[in-house]
Amino acid sequence: MVRHALERGYSVVGVCRAKSVGKLAAFERRIEVFPGATNDREVIRQAVDGCDGVLTVLVPWGSNHYSTGTAQAVLDFARPGARLVFSCGWHISRDGRDVYPRSFKRQEWLARWLGRLTRLVDIDDQIEACRRIFASSTRWTVVRGSDLEEGDSQGLPVWSGHVGDPILASNITRRVDFALFMVEALKNDKLIHEAPAIVGCCSASAVAHRPSAGHSGDMAEGH
Ligand SMILES: NC(=O)c1ccc[n+]([C@@H]2O[C@H](COP(=O)([O-])OP(=O)(O)OC[C@H]3O[C@@H](n4cnc5c(N)ncnc54)[C@H](OP(=O)(O)O)[C@@H]3O)[C@@H](O)[C@H]2O)c1
Repeated sequence: MVRHALERGYSVVGVCRAKSVGKLAAFERRIEVFPGATNDREVIRQAVDGCDGVLTVLVPWGSNHYSTGTAQAVLDFARPGARLVFSCGWHISRDGRDVYPRSFKRQEWLARWLGRLTRLVDIDDQIEACRRIFASSTRWTVVRGSDLEEGDSQGLPVWSGHVGDPILASNITRRVDFALFMVEALKNDKLIHEAPAIVGCCSASAVAHRPSAGHSGDMAEGH
């Protein structure tokens, strides 16, 4: 996300835990970094000050309400009118109209119970974080990622408003392109108050159900 944002001429301020600052070494002196947990309200208050857009990665890690704390801090401290773009997975449903394969629901159930046992993962906290975002009056977009894979960019993913749409069936997106979609969403007002479920533009299902030529270039919705 940092690289995509810099390439588009944005000034970038980043927040990551102190132990992770090293991973941003390649961007030293090109971005400002606030070391800290993203659910630390004071860190977020300082980091988002003056920002026109905030890209937030919501992760379900730990058992200390990391996602809800992160989302709430961004909702509370981002300047009024700022574009807020959050990441999560397909398991988040905005309106309950998503249709999931049985295998997907089984995986979610397993993750929920393993998370409760080990306290390493808290899926329900990520769900609550998104509920708060959906209920907010901010200019939000919640980008719902498919399974991710590494590799070079294939281009902007395509999306649908609902999981279960055949265009999403391949359930795979390059990580770098998930990041690209987040950054491009900053200036796409059509995505405000949308929860696009994305899939790689070169995945088999995207190619088979592509709505029109050049669809991925304008962030077109699949269906
Ligand atoms: N991985 C997938 O297959 C997949 C599928 C669908 C959707 N997604 C979504 O894509 C986004 C990115 O997922 P990802 O798999 O790339 O995430 P990730 O590798 O687990 O890490 C993302 C960030 O989470 C922070 N993090 C990791 N472990 C943590 C912990 N124990 N406590 C607090 N923070 C921790 C790290 O922040 P620091 O920078 O502070 O280290 C890291 O940069 C998420 O919103 C996820 O829901 C992922």
